[in-house]
Amino acid sequence: MNTPELIVTQIEEEHLEIVTLLNKCIDSIDEMSFKNYFYSLYNCIKNHFIHEEEFMLKVNYYGMIEHVKIHNDLKEELARLMTCTYLNILEQIDVIKSLKDVVLNHMNENDVELEQYIEKFKTL
Ligand SMILES: [Fe+2]
Ligand SMILES: [Fe+2]
Repeated sequence: MNTPELIVTQIEEEHLEIVTLLNKCIDSIDEMSFKNYFYSLYNCIKNHFIHEEEFMLKVNYYGMIEHVKIHNDLKEELARLMTCTYLNILEQIDVIKSLKDVVLNHMNENDVELEQYIEKFKTL
């Protein structure tokens, strides 16, 4: 992974995987499958944030501090839901539905801004 195009492609592929897992969580019909998908989602998001933050460091991204803060807030919310014991499955799915909006908004605004910045480089 050393061209801006490949980095942006990787980010986009990871986004697709995250959206797919968000939808699988939302469409889960029982607690067991929800928990499995949610666990995969959590790991997928955690790894994706690590990758994006590595790319930001590589290009010395001007918006890194603000962007990382959004990642940390999202990870915190996911971790809270992961250990939550007082919500039933339907309530947990509702939380995921609103988290999906936050994640999509982050991808469409902050991540697009990062991708546009990365694309300005000729080589990395
Ligand atoms: Fe992202
Ligand atoms: Fe991001």
